[in-house]
Amino acid sequence: MTIKQSHAQPFSVVIMAGGKGTRMKSALPKVLHPIAGKPMLGHVIDAATELAPSQTLTIVGHEAAQVRAYLANQYPEVDTVEQTKQLGTGHAVLQTEEALKNFDGHVLILSGDVPLLTPELLMVLSEKHLSRENAVTVLTTTTEDPTGLGRIRRKNNQFVGIVEHKDATDEEREINEINTGIYAVKSPLIFDLLRKTGNTNAQGEYYLTDIVTLALQDGLKVGTCKTDDGKALLGVNSRAQLAFTEALYQDRLRDAIMAEGVTLIDPSSTYFSADTQIGRDSVIGPHCRFLAGVSLGERTEMEGHTVMANCTVHDDCKILAFSHIDGAKIRSDCTVGPFARLRPGTLMEHGSKVSNFCELKKTSLGKGSKVNHLSYIGDATIGAGVNIGAGTITCNYDGVNKYQTVINDGAFIGSNTSLVAPLTIGASATIGAGSTITQDVPPEALALTRPEQKLRTGYKRPAKKGA
Ligand code: UD1
Ligand code: CA
Repeated sequence: MTIKQSHAQPFSVVIMAGGKGTRMKSALPKVLHPIAGKPMLGHVIDAATELAPSQTLTIVGHEAAQVRAYLANQYPEVDTVEQTKQLGTGHAVLQTEEALKNFDGHVLILSGDVPLLTPELLMVLSEKHLSRENAVTVLTTTTEDPTGLGRIRRKNNQFVGIVEHKDATDEEREINEINTGIYAVKSPLIFDLLRKTGNTNAQGEYYLTDIVTLALQDGLKVGTCKTDDGKALLGVNSRAQLAFTEALYQDRLRDAIMAEGVTLIDPSSTYFSADTQIGRDSVIGPHCRFLAGVSLGERTEMEGHTVMANCTVHDDCKILAFSHIDGAKIRSDCTVGPFARLRPGTLMEHGSKVSNFCELKKTSLGKGSKVNHLSYIGDATIGAGVNIGAGTITCNYDGVNKYQTVINDGAFIGSNTSLVAPLTIGASATIGAGSTITQDVPPEALALTRPEQKLRTGYKRPAKKGA
């Protein structure tokens, strides 16, 4: 059920994302700092989108180009409004007046730095806002350490305003009910209130929070919507808060993945991305890290200590310890590791194997083929049933260009072979150990380039000096 459907009242979303984020001490705009591999702003947009708003506007300002580029790439349907000077949250929202001038309804105002909010919470807030017929409803929660946050002021139990930490008296600082920075407001009325805000406060900013008192002065109804799920509403202003929020979100992801039928041997040492997908009855060992874009099939076992990014692994694979897998496609029944490195463009067909201290790049490895020991295979197409011996190197780069190696079905490459590309090895060909192969080898041929062994019998090594 969407808010629109449930109340037949149009809803828009405004996300404040223009602030400097000074406390992050970063060249990256605060709202683009990732939680579980996804920028905080993306988390906020995703939560808002679940409510099917009529439109979503993001206020950009500080490092606007970077935020715009992210949105254009990931959320082309989200519009932006520029706040050229960062004069405070009230000033920020005022910038959307033009964009919302034909909009008569309600606006959910969100902060791009509150990434753990959930659609459910937004739902509860809007339901309350509409059922009470408020002009302004503020989502609040209580917290043990409210330092730095806006406090909810009440008189005789009536909500009368929000005071920022920096402006608060000692007595007000004792209040532990705080403003989460998430609001439901009536539009266009909100803009009349915002135009009346001043900046005579400790920070010299136009505070959005002042609309509460201004609304009351105009005889309008204001209210709070208090939630116990305060953890979901923490704002991120510093690197320490980023780490804290990441930890909470990781717990959410771990629970969700286990709930889908996946065993985590040591959940607290396993790190997921917001988009990680793992099939049921897979088992993930300790200290695995899933960066963005990973999907694992069913019954796949990961031993531990492995990093994965941008890859798809089908069913029934074994990923042994200490492997690094980035940009690979791995079909069913494959074994990777221990200590394997798969780089972008690797494709492992059904039942193939890459083991100890091997590196593959832009290489497809055919069905049942094996690269088991100490090899580098790059820019190669390898057929089915191929055995690549220990220490095989594709010499794919001459310092300027990269060249292809093709190894056809059933070929056997002896240990310690250098394959100087471009090169084609025919089907079922055999390469003798220790060879440097510079020319194509036809099918079912034996090629070897090693010098003949010399033998002298009865040979005695010279005695050591002083012996
Ligand atoms: C704000 C609230 C505070 C609340 C807290 C919750 C105000 C005055 N205070 O404080 O009551 O407890 O959030 O997290 O609103 N932004 C702009 N343009 C600006 C300033 C800020 O777009 O000129 C954006 C920021 O990018 C950020 C959001 O607004 O996403 C909140 O701004 P921030 O400076 O973090 O406000 P807080 O001090 O945390
Ligand atoms: Ca904040």
